Amino acid sequence: MLGNVDQQTSAPLARAPGPRALPKLGGMLQLRGDPLAKILELRKRFGGFVRLGPLGNSDVFLVTDPAAARHALLDHHTNYKKGLAAQRLRPILGDGSLLLERDVWRRRRRMIQPGFHKQKVATLAKSFVEAADDLVVRWSAAINAGRSIDAREEMLQLTMRLTLRNMFRADAVELKPLVDAWHVVYGELSRNRMRLIRLPDWVPDRKRDETKQALATIHRVLGEQIRARANAEDDGTVLAMLLGARDEEGGGGLSEQELRDEVLTVFIGGYETSSNALAFTLSLLAAHPDAAAKHREEVDRVLQGREPEVTDLASLPFNRAVLDESLRLYPPSWMITREALVDDNIAGYRVSKGSQLLISAYGLHHAPDLWSDAERFKPERFMPDAPARDRFAYIPFGGGPRVCLGDQYALTEMQLVIARLAQKLTLKLQPGTRIEAQAHVGLRPRNPLHIVAALRSRA
Ligand code: HEM
Repeated sequence: MLGNVDQQTSAPLARAPGPRALPKLGGMLQLRGDPLAKILELRKRFGGFVRLGPLGNSDVFLVTDPAAARHALLDHHTNYKKGLAAQRLRPILGDGSLLLERDVWRRRRRMIQPGFHKQKVATLAKSFVEAADDLVVRWSAAINAGRSIDAREEMLQLTMRLTLRNMFRADAVELKPLVDAWHVVYGELSRNRMRLIRLPDWVPDRKRDETKQALATIHRVLGEQIRARANAEDDGTVLAMLLGARDEEGGGGLSEQELRDEVLTVFIGGYETSSNALAFTLSLLAAHPDAAAKHREEVDRVLQGREPEVTDLASLPFNRAVLDESLRLYPPSWMITREALVDDNIAGYRVSKGSQLLISAYGLHHAPDLWSDAERFKPERFMPDAPARDRFAYIPFGGGPRVCLGDQYALTEMQLVIARLAQKLTLKLQPGTRIEAQAHVGLRPRNPLHIVAALRSRA
């Protein structure tokens, strides 16, 4: 019961403030409707550590305070495991690194982490720039006719093409069964993510059966890809890296099932997140001509018309700041969840074993006491000379030991794509298009993001 008293004063710990809640599962119901608006409203009313209500014998907390986020993600991370939301992915992801815990997770992460290091990602840089060039070609008819493109749809296709290329050196045509099956599984995931009560397996459910079939297709195609490459030379793909990963202690590699689960994890982790982030970023640039002009000026001055390379990125701080600010306003992973493994004490409040922490990047990133003019797009706040801020006030990729494994991949991909597009195009938001977010599996645009692109004269 150590966690139920203050360690210094031995006084009983207080119950965190929060709204009235229904009994039993009431804690999970508080964010229904419009979770993003509710998160900000609850923070305003009750502060950065809010008890949303009960969940069985424990509680659900909303965390939008940097110190409390640091507590669970870094300083006392061993008191927590991944929370309910992540655990729901298990039927799809099996034992991928996103869901593993403790020693098994540590060993796996050590095995595959080298494949996602900056230097390794640098070898994929060309693919990101080429993908941006292909976009300009793809959009040429729309550009010539002055027609808009839908940034979200385009960015989903772009990141899918890049994922397939960098994972398997394949394209969406070759792997059509995989792509189609993936969309079915992803659709089901979106449908089920927020549901509390799921139908038991014996209740007929057409969608669930379709999902099972799609998952079987994914497993089959991935199994074929893995076996085809098992003895092939390293072709620089993510799959080849995973095939070559060795356990430092035992020296063994990953089994076919473990490989499959990791490949699926990379798909889930990286596909929609990066595409939504890119779609929001392009739309923000399209909606803010001053920032876009500053962005173009930097890209032109530094690159002098040549293709951007990874080594240029450090000389493009505004390019990075645009992306960071977009990830602040619209963090694709809007909520990270953790479950308490023991009774704990966060900021003097009681957190009983089994409680769920909903750590909200969206709530942290929009907090008016942490960010001046929090709702405004101001990339300058991320320039190197801007005032320092609490590391845990900004967590688009999480924090602590379980920080995103693909952050360097995603950041490199997105920086190169937006820099290359700025060299070639100017963007305008089509009148009537509103940039608004909707909380789904990830944070995604609520409406289509219609952008009108024009070729720059010097490109
Ligand atoms: C903008 C793009 C991305 C965002 C915003 C993002 C965000 C995150 C966040 C917030 C976490 C931490 C989850 C937690 O603590 O529970 C995470 C974990 C993870 N991400 Fe990403 N991610 C992105 C792209 C990627 C990419 C491209 C990959 C793969 C290439 C990837 C692979 C992973 C994996 C494997 C984990 C689990 C790490 C672990 O638990 O050890 N992510 N990501």
